Amino acid sequence: METKLVTIDNVKEAGQIIRDGGLVAFPTETVYGLGADAMNEDAAARIYKAKGRPSDNPLIVHISDIEQVNLVAEEVSEAAWKIMRHFWPGPLTVILNKKKEVPDGTTGGLPTVAVRMPSHPAARDLIRESGRVIAAPSANTSGRPSPTTAGHVMEDMKGKIPMIIDGGAVGIGIESTIVDMTGEVPMILRPGYITKAMLEEVIGAVQVDPAVSGRTMQKDIVAKAPGMKYRHYAPKGSLTLVEGPEDQVVDKINALAWEKTRQGYRVGVIATDETIARYYVGVRKSIGRRDNPDTIATHLYSILRFCDDFELDYIYSESFFEDGLGNAIMNRMLKAAGYHLISL
Ligand code: TXA
Ligand code: MG
Repeated sequence: METKLVTIDNVKEAGQIIRDGGLVAFPTETVYGLGADAMNEDAAARIYKAKGRPSDNPLIVHISDIEQVNLVAEEVSEAAWKIMRHFWPGPLTVILNKKKEVPDGTTGGLPTVAVRMPSHPAARDLIRESGRVIAAPSANTSGRPSPTTAGHVMEDMKGKIPMIIDGGAVGIGIESTIVDMTGEVPMILRPGYITKAMLEEVIGAVQVDPAVSGRTMQKDIVAKAPGMKYRHYAPKGSLTLVEGPEDQVVDKINALAWEKTRQGYRVGVIATDETIARYYVGVRKSIGRRDNPDTIATHLYSILRFCDDFELDYIYSESFFEDGLGNAIMNRMLKAAGYHLISL
């Protein structure tokens, strides 16, 4: 199959592909999504096939108008409406009780459904034009870092899907916050750009799924979002995070990188704008500015893909604060590193 790379000017054709049960990749403000008609079981099945995704991992249903919540969910609580009205359109996914009309192929057989109204204009135009609600996971091959450019999508999906809408590089760079609103107390199942503090300001106490808040691999706790249990986002090489006082971190990473380089391996170092000049071995990349976490989130996945492009065997990275957005960044980094963290 030929994969067309187009701009949003081709939205009419894209909408037709969705109505016909086909797949279209499109930009959102978080990462690129791989969309299909959420109410069409065969279309949803095509998503799993293109991504090589385990079928027990449910999809997020994307809508363009808050009223569409009623097409897919029922018994929606006041608190759920409140956060949807407050944070939508935007990087928040809400878990609600599903209507029976939503096929099991979209929700992985769960009694709940994940719903999100993205803010990216191309995403909203596509949903509106298709006249459907659109199931969309991140548009990467399962297990690879999520795509933040149309080029990343092309790398993974070329020949597997008919169309990619190119909207340039995304703004946020990590996936939406997922909050489960079906229980007594709202619970964050995946940390993201919308933080716990931001949610609590609107609806009061919010819990975090213990399976996603830990700094070590939580072997005995099953994550409540099925997707969070997989080893995601992983570069092919071995990634190690190093945390501690800045000078010690720099020295340790230089020492580790030097040792592996001498053994003949291809080595990479992930630093920040503040520290990059202090490293002297391997392929060195700055992930962003330590004093501006947004820049780190934006570059995270493209750096992990870069590690693959350069066929790096060992990658050493500085580690990040864990409050606010840093929590989401470290959640993704720790997973990518298989929880390999050196604390100094
Ligand atoms: O930012 C995003 O959310 C991006 C863009 C494309 O919108 N999408 C995204 O989708 O990250 P995906 O499929 O890569 O991640 C969806 C996550 C998975 O961890 C999945 O297990 C969880 O959402 N999920 C979906 N439905 C769920 C449900 N009913 N209950 C619990 N978790 C659910
Ligand atoms: Mg994903």
